[in-house]
Amino acid sequence: MKDKIIVALDVNTLKEEERLLDILSPHVQVFKIGMELFYSCGLKTLELVKKHDRDIFLDLKFHDIPNTVYAAAKTAVRFEVFMFNVHASGGIDMMQKAVEGAEEESEKLGISRPKILGVTVLTSMDSEALKKIGINKSPEDQVLNLAKLTKEAGLDGVVASPEEISAIRKTMGKDFLIVTPGVRPEDSDSGDQKRVATPKEAFQRGADYIVIGRPVTKAKDPVKVIQSI
Ligand code: C5P
Repeated sequence: MKDKIIVALDVNTLKEEERLLDILSPHVQVFKIGMELFYSCGLKTLELVKKHDRDIFLDLKFHDIPNTVYAAAKTAVRFEVFMFNVHASGGIDMMQKAVEGAEEESEKLGISRPKILGVTVLTSMDSEALKKIGINKSPEDQVLNLAKLTKEAGLDGVVASPEEISAIRKTMGKDFLIVTPGVRPEDSDSGDQKRVATPKEAFQRGADYIVIGRPVTKAKDPVKVIQSI
């Protein structure tokens, strides 16, 4: 289980990051660094995780022209991240270039290629929001549509909310990674997350990894929360 729980380091100082790493590293293998921490403190945030001998999920959701994402993917490899992600809505060419960049750079450095995930439909978007950007599909249909595209492009899997896990697992089969945020242990506050599930439910539906932030990072005793999961 230690390898299956990813803790989101959603803080904005190195001091706070280090405090969480000191407490949680003995119990958690993978830490997620997203836009808030990375754009606040830069590369040092990645170095700190490596100093603790732990793995990085770089959650910067690349979305640009294929050539730029190709270069960004190479950079992610040079950071030696375990996992990074791109927006699937950037299209198949963009995703293929992400894989190509990551493969070339990994080969050059003689390291294994990071896992690459597609972000399908942001969980903050409903049917109405999709319609306004010209997509006349339900969020679930669009999620499955984009999940298929990520596989075709050679990505390893997707980031998906608890509600989407079962349909994705059924459609995409077992060799497809599902990483699930929006997870809440039974007795914790759901905060602004609307479509939540417990860690147990998420794994039962077919998630490979769960991502959990505030219920752990804001807890009085973060280790206790991890142990309860
Ligand atoms: O604090 P909490 O457990 O809600 O944190 C969940 C993490 O997963 C946050 O870093 C959030 O940005 C991320 N995330 C999410 N929902 C998505 C994609 C990413 O909550 N659909």
